[in-house]
Amino acid sequence: MRKLSGRTANFTDSVIRRMTRISNQYGAVNLSQGFPDFGPPEEITHRLAEIALDGPHQYSVTWGADNFRAALAAKQSGLMGFEIDPESEVVVTCGSTEAMMASMMAVVDPGDEVIVFSPFYENYGADAILSGAVPVYVPLRPPSFGFDADELEAAFKRRPKALILCNPSNPSGKVFTRDELKIIADLAVKYDAYVITDEVYEHIIYEPYEHTYIASLPGMFERTLSCGSLSKTYSMTGWRLGYVIASPEITDVTRKIHDFLTVGAPAPLQEAAVAGLTLGGDYYVSLRQLYTKKRGLLLKGLDAIGIRHTEPQGAYYVLLDISDFKYGSDLEFCEELARKVGVGAVPGSSFFREDINDFIRLHFAKKEETLADALERLERGWKKM
Ligand SMILES: Cc1ncc(COP(=O)(O)O)c(C=O)c1O
Repeated sequence: MRKLSGRTANFTDSVIRRMTRISNQYGAVNLSQGFPDFGPPEEITHRLAEIALDGPHQYSVTWGADNFRAALAAKQSGLMGFEIDPESEVVVTCGSTEAMMASMMAVVDPGDEVIVFSPFYENYGADAILSGAVPVYVPLRPPSFGFDADELEAAFKRRPKALILCNPSNPSGKVFTRDELKIIADLAVKYDAYVITDEVYEHIIYEPYEHTYIASLPGMFERTLSCGSLSKTYSMTGWRLGYVIASPEITDVTRKIHDFLTVGAPAPLQEAAVAGLTLGGDYYVSLRQLYTKKRGLLLKGLDAIGIRHTEPQGAYYVLLDISDFKYGSDLEFCEELARKVGVGAVPGSSFFREDINDFIRLHFAKKEETLADALERLERGWKKM
């Protein structure tokens, strides 16, 4: 047989999804893969029940059903602070995962360089490989996960085609300040690069931090592909609904790529999700309160056990410091943690470009009783690791 494609020769399977399998194997409380153990608002699920009988059940418009795009554009225009035209500036995709992939393919040609901050969400590595981009990594250094502006400019001097920005960040929990975004924006304009954002955690932010959309900064709309998703905002990661918001020139290309990749996001689910997109502002306030409470519960519990950890400003991940332990690798530590203590975590090294083995990542998109169970297990077993 001839060899399969060389494109994926360097792919490993997703470490995050592997840790879910290991957690299941040992009956561990799975705080590895970041999805909630609770469902979407009932306005959405009730609407889905109606749609099961009434439809739609066939393809929607390739770049998204009219009413979904209209509702999304209205919601995001309010948040982003400029008018988004649902007819020409929105592409509805199968999650932010497809939004990011389609955006990369819209922007880069094979061999083009793309700046990626490290630590980074693991999909960006695969996105780069699949689109033929060459990643240039710029470190976000713990514990503050700030970047060095000169180091960033040095990367821009290589004339990359784009920068990938995850804000709020997975796994660091960093929320980029307006000043930091201004530095990135000025460099993007100066060196004529695009910015591809992943803003799936735009609504999951802890006081006093606020989310700034880089597309809203001067000169940025025309060079930004703002990717987002309903997965985290409405606790519906399995629905696979996401989007790209960008200028008509960019969406024109992104829509074609999206069409050939997936034809469209699921039509019945788009229809039901309109009930979420049109919820009032109170919903997002409650969502913040919900996650603020979960974050408080987990961090307080970790402090009580004496585990050093990051303080996330946004998103729902915390990095635990394991540098005192003597394991061969953080992957080995995570396997032992699942087996001996019964808690599933992700090795931090799967997010860092640098050789850093000092962290493991837990997420807290779980019911309070699930988090309490995980904390009890950590209390009993952490020090024996
Ligand atoms: C930063 C980031 N982007 C994208 C995704 C996936 O989003 P979606 O479900 O919309 O594909 C995740 C999921 O954990 C994530 O953490």
